[in-house]
Amino acid sequence: MIVVGARPDFMKAAPIIERMRRFHDFLEPTLVHTGQHYDEKLSGLFFEELKMPRPDINLGVGSGSHAVQTARIMIEFENVVLENAPHLVAVVGDVNSTLACALVARKCHIPVAHIEAGLRSFDMGMPEEVNRVLTDRISDYLFVTESSGFQNLVMEGVDEDRIFFVGNVMIDTLMEHLRVASSRPVLSNLGLTEKRYALLTLHRPENVDDRESLARLIEALATISQIVPIVFPCHPRTRLNIDKFGLASYFDDNRFRLIEPQGYLNFLRLESQAALVLTDSGGIQEETTIMNVPCLTLRKNTERPVTLTDGTNILVGPYPEKILAAVENILGGKIKSGQAPKYWDGRASERIVEVFLRIREGKLSPRAGIPGTAKIKTIETSAAQ
Ligand code: UD1
Ligand code: UDP
Repeated sequence: MIVVGARPDFMKAAPIIERMRRFHDFLEPTLVHTGQHYDEKLSGLFFEELKMPRPDINLGVGSGSHAVQTARIMIEFENVVLENAPHLVAVVGDVNSTLACALVARKCHIPVAHIEAGLRSFDMGMPEEVNRVLTDRISDYLFVTESSGFQNLVMEGVDEDRIFFVGNVMIDTLMEHLRVASSRPVLSNLGLTEKRYALLTLHRPENVDDRESLARLIEALATISQIVPIVFPCHPRTRLNIDKFGLASYFDDNRFRLIEPQGYLNFLRLESQAALVLTDSGGIQEETTIMNVPCLTLRKNTERPVTLTDGTNILVGPYPEKILAAVENILGGKIKSGQAPKYWDGRASERIVEVFLRIREGKLSPRAGIPGTAKIKTIETSAAQ
């Protein structure tokens, strides 16, 4: 049983489901959508674009406070687990749906696989960090995207035999869709020229929920938009706050364009052709690294340090002077080049499904591990598939 709930989950689950379908005699995925995200532009569109099957089950929980949302997901998901008795529950990423479903499965004695395990910002003020730490603690099989994930889990006392360094499924999805995205006319539709604009996304509560923090960022970005035009596909959380805090007039200027959240293909096109990306998203730090597009992360920390060490990412925090200086550097040609982190090669889902098959065959049991395996295990895929 694979769980999705919020926008980034769809890009993570799609290649795993696609890969599982090739082994239909052995693996039968049931897709559960919690309904954490429900707008067409945050959910429905992705199923079409990523050619994902419609969810077998939709819990339809919608928005709410952390407690309300998490609790609703748990109540609904428990019924689903009891009725369906899955062999394994796989959760992805770090959203509320991830933790809620992992916790339910654990208590129903169903083994849990966490995809994108081990990432740590070490900032427990972030709801996602709480979700990551707790989900990892109760998962049986932990699939990591980068070596920091492996190290963090080992430091937290996780048995190495339960950790699988498989790479990044989001990059599988990116590689699969880059070519089709390249024919999207979104740049001409928005009057943008390749490599002559910046792309912005913002949705972290610490940046957008507090009037002063959001106003400071928007004001700084408005100044930057006089140097390079900015296009801003705006998350609904941020959109609501822009209106509530009376900041909408900053976007009257055509050089600072606030637009609706984009579908995956349009967004990839915008991302790949941007002169630079400004973001507080997790996944976008990773995607820009693979596309070799300069990325400025408007946060004080990142749980994805490989994007800093190997990739194009620079942490500038929410500080106007730092952001402006970094933008000027990039536009002046001082560009940090990047390389693909290990196993960000489009084959992470193959490695994950290889492990699922081993679980299915009884070669791996939950919390038991396999004795005598190497420290960082890499997964060989079966050549025939
Ligand atoms: C969630 C995740 C975050 C992830 C992000 C991806 C948690 C704690 N947060 O944040 O880690 O990076 O998704 O985009 O799980 N809303 C809509 N339409 C929707 C969904 C939400 O308008 O389809 C609005 C509602 O006003 C809602 C607000 O957005 O209250 C926030 O939604 P929520 O799912 O709680 O958190 P995100 O900010 O989306
Ligand atoms: N994305 C998208 N449309 C947008 C903004 C982002 O399709 O308007 C994609 C982006 O390419 C990436 C994912 O959404 O694959 C990142 O999700 P988000 O930033 O919402 O969440 P996070 O990664 O921060 O959890």
